[in-house]
Amino acid sequence: MKILFYEHNADTAIWLQDLSRALPEADIRLWEPGDADPADYAVVWRAPRELFANRPDLKAVFNLGAGVDAILDIERKEPGTLPPNALLVRLEDSGMAQQMVEYANYTVLRYLRRMDEYDALQRDRRWEKLEPHARGEFAVGVLGMGVLGARVAQTLTTLGVPVRGFSRTKREIEGVQTFAGAEQFDAFIDGAKMLVNLLPHTPDTEGILNARVFERLARGAYIVNLARGAHVVDNDLLHAMQSGQIAAATLDVFHQEPLPDNHPFWTTPRIAITPHVAAITLREESIEQIAAKIRALTRGEPISGIVDAKRGY
Ligand code: NAP
Ligand code: GLV
Repeated sequence: MKILFYEHNADTAIWLQDLSRALPEADIRLWEPGDADPADYAVVWRAPRELFANRPDLKAVFNLGAGVDAILDIERKEPGTLPPNALLVRLEDSGMAQQMVEYANYTVLRYLRRMDEYDALQRDRRWEKLEPHARGEFAVGVLGMGVLGARVAQTLTTLGVPVRGFSRTKREIEGVQTFAGAEQFDAFIDGAKMLVNLLPHTPDTEGILNARVFERLARGAYIVNLARGAHVVDNDLLHAMQSGQIAAATLDVFHQEPLPDNHPFWTTPRIAITPHVAAITLREESIEQIAAKIRALTRGEPISGIVDAKRGY
């Protein structure tokens, strides 16, 4: 069995070593430009188009992340690039859900308890007590009720704030008020005090966090984007913050990464930035999951986590 590996930012030697340890029967190689030799599987993150082209023998592509937008974007721009019979498989949790739970809980508590404002007051040596937010009116809407969003929504209920969840198809999650489909979107956002975005980036979700949505939220609402930069219309967010309709935002993902030096987000008061680290890919857990799936496929057994390319996630 031949496996290609590509992850531009990773410590390649360690990944190759651990993959080989998990799949000793496999011949695993780092893909480099010009390599067109046969392969059965590819384990990749943000791989270039050339890796996928003219590979009719590829049985499955394992994406080293939950979001497959980068791979599907290649196919969208040049249809027929991905091998038509190869499965596209995303990581399912593999340690990311816990990280998302931590990040989302942190932001909800930070804004609910107005800690960001106390940080600013401390910088000015000001001893000032702020009116607490009413917990019952601090409705948090989680966009996306998938592997990550559902876990996040479920744990946020333990904070005692009203939690809403939005997905394409109806989900039932204890303690969460769930909404499904475009027709229930306005009911989901109306009056929410905070949005936490965990949607996949697809043509349907691009630009979903825009001026119209910001207007329908409670005055002084909070935006937390943990999914993809393309979900946010940057100028709409900046305008909504200037007007005070949006009080603050925490952003982990951006249209262009790294976020360019001259982007206004860097200097906008009350925008907090992290460099796409909300939930990182954990090597050990991911390799264990992928190796188990490769073995299942080899035995002719079904696997979970297969992406529906038409749906886009
Ligand atoms: P997932 O399991 O595929 O779940 C996606 C959820 O979004 C599902 O609930 C789905 O609805 C919903 N959805 C999709 N399209 C929709 C639409 N048009 N309208 C309403 N709901 C829609 O994905 P996941 O594993 O939770 O990951 C979500 C995203 O997080 C990834 O795609 C990735 O972009 C991002 N991510 C970011 C980081 C980071 O470090 N910042 C790390 C990991 C992942 P159904 O339930 O009805 O299918
Ligand atoms: C990271 O952004 C992922 O999609 O896993």
